[in-house]
Amino acid sequence: MELCQVCGLPVTQPQVVVSRGNPQAKLMVIGEAPGASEDEMGKPFVGRSGQILDRLLESVGLDPHADVYITNVVKCRPPKNRRPTGNEIALSRPWLQQQIELVDPDVIALAGSTAVEAILGIKGGITTLRGKWQDWQGRLLMPLLHPAYLLRNPSKAEGAPVALTRGDLIEVCNRLNTIKQCSVVPVLDSARSHKP
Ligand code: URA
Repeated sequence: MELCQVCGLPVTQPQVVVSRGNPQAKLMVIGEAPGASEDEMGKPFVGRSGQILDRLLESVGLDPHADVYITNVVKCRPPKNRRPTGNEIALSRPWLQQQIELVDPDVIALAGSTAVEAILGIKGGITTLRGKWQDWQGRLLMPLLHPAYLLRNPSKAEGAPVALTRGDLIEVCNRLNTIKQCSVVPVLDSARSHKP
């Protein structure tokens, strides 16, 4: 069986699953690893988890194509959709780091515990970490519940995982808007100073 030369996972398709969305976006979403639909289509989050992710992004006013760059920690599909091992995460990490540096997002949303482990080195505890801003390498990180968890817990009730995640994404959206406003303030100020 052929193995990926980066992460060591079995090669099942001619292509790896790298990203979708806008490489110039100010928001990056990092998930775990491709599932069957992603593996087939060569793009992350295009199956049922992706549908709920897109719906939630849209519900807070973010366009998944224009406003977000979406990727995964691991670029190959783990057999039977198992969680990637620590070794597979570590081997894939330099690739993810390059993506972060090239896209240069202001905010990174970590979708689920594998993304939190890969970036922050924290194992477990996503239910307490979610919704809490983290400072990391000059960027703001927002840990989120994984969309697959939301599929398994679809209640729309207030305080349920879907509503909590929507609230976390509203935080993300507000922060992105604040950053945008901050960056135009100096321009407005200098324009004003030229007025009589
Ligand atoms: N789950 C993930 O973490 N990533 C995908 O691309 C699809 C499902």
